[in-house]
Amino acid sequence: MLTPLTAREESESLPLWGEGESGELVCRAVWDETADVKTFLFTPATPRLFRFHAGQFMTFHWPLPGGVVSRCYTIATPPTRPYAIGITVKRKPGGVVSPWLHEALRPGMRITAEGPSGIFSAELHGAEKYLFLAGGSGITPLASMLRAFADRGESPDLVFLNAARSPADLIFRDELALIARRLAGLRLLHLVESRAGEPEWPGLTGRLSPELLALIPDLAEREIFCCGPAPFMAAARAALETLGVGLSRYHEESFDFETDGGRATEGAAEEALTAEAPSTAPQAEVPLFTITLAKSGRSFPCRADQTVLAAARAAGIRLPHACTQGLCGSCKSRILSGEIERNHKGGIREREMAQGLALLCCNRPLSDLVIDR
Ligand SMILES: Cc1cc2nc3c(=O)[nH]c(=O)nc-3n(C[C@H](O)[C@H](O)[C@H](O)COP(=O)(O)OP(=O)(O)OC[C@H]3O[C@@H](n4cnc5c(N)ncnc54)[C@H](O)[C@@H]3O)c2cc1C
Ligand code: FES
Repeated sequence: MLTPLTAREESESLPLWGEGESGELVCRAVWDETADVKTFLFTPATPRLFRFHAGQFMTFHWPLPGGVVSRCYTIATPPTRPYAIGITVKRKPGGVVSPWLHEALRPGMRITAEGPSGIFSAELHGAEKYLFLAGGSGITPLASMLRAFADRGESPDLVFLNAARSPADLIFRDELALIARRLAGLRLLHLVESRAGEPEWPGLTGRLSPELLALIPDLAEREIFCCGPAPFMAAARAALETLGVGLSRYHEESFDFETDGGRATEGAAEEALTAEAPSTAPQAEVPLFTITLAKSGRSFPCRADQTVLAAARAAGIRLPHACTQGLCGSCKSRILSGEIERNHKGGIREREMAQGLALLCCNRPLSDLVIDR
């Protein structure tokens, strides 16, 4: 009779799925978190162990009826549980992918994914004291970090503020309360805009404000991680500035296209992308460059104040992309000739840029370009 492998023997024999890799995933389970948030659990189609930093995300290629559409989702489960990854997705009314996930993604379905990627992780900024600010579905990277602390039995001095519209919208409310009972260093604060549905609500009511953050002990000593809707993150930055706390220990991750990067997607979101970075200067003053795609032989105009991806979209040309913020690397392309900006948020490595690669979602041309697409 075969002796079953111990967990350690098994984990040592399995190949790893780490940064910069891709592969096929099988959906294993789907469950509700709140009325408009679900968690989807995936395992690799062939056994592998996930290796990532708590807070990182993956780029998923979803097989929608009209074609494959890519979107990034944070791995909400912790790296201490490497057999599966879970993503927790808020349904965005009018969105292309999230409503489809909620309605159509079922256990047994297979999808492809790339990553993990990203630099929004407490593991990369070790500290003795932390403040996590979570707004709505922005809790996912912070939940991964907290779950990893709990699994490892680490209990740094951590204030975790979980904000939502109402008590029923608080994601992972019960689980956070359970972890808070176990981790001595964790102080959990729930903040809701309205106590609707729970008149006896025992937590905080209102919005993120300087007055609220002023109550947090040793605020200036904390490494701060903030993720949520753009107004939530703006309120966090403004409150810290009002309190005289610099932003040198402040880290944030944005999920929305309304934020700085000009998030934009397929279908309805196309308008936002094509209108991205509109020029306030008269059109005639903005240089116009020609972008040529070497493989397809197609060319299109691109204003100096437009990203290449936005200009391609405006010309009806579809180029690969997912996050549109310079995070995921989905739009990475080789520049065969010409000059382009080189901004990014971790989606490309220095050595790749040295090899002539650039991100088309967040960079504007500095001359005519020929791109290997
Ligand atoms: C690094 C990263 C991690 C992420 N992690 C998570 C996560 O853990 N959980 C999660 O839920 N999401 C996460 N996201 C967001 C996610 O990638 C998707 O953007 C989100 O699910 C919405 O996708 P969608 O296709 O449903 O909506 P989209 O089609 O992209 O539309 C988004 C919203 O914009 C509206 N909209 C579209 N076009 C316009 C327009 N022209 N003008 C005004 N509004 C418009 C839509 O109605 C919709 O409400 C993450 C994003 C990034 C970049
Ligand atoms: S689309 Fe993510 S880096 Fe460009």
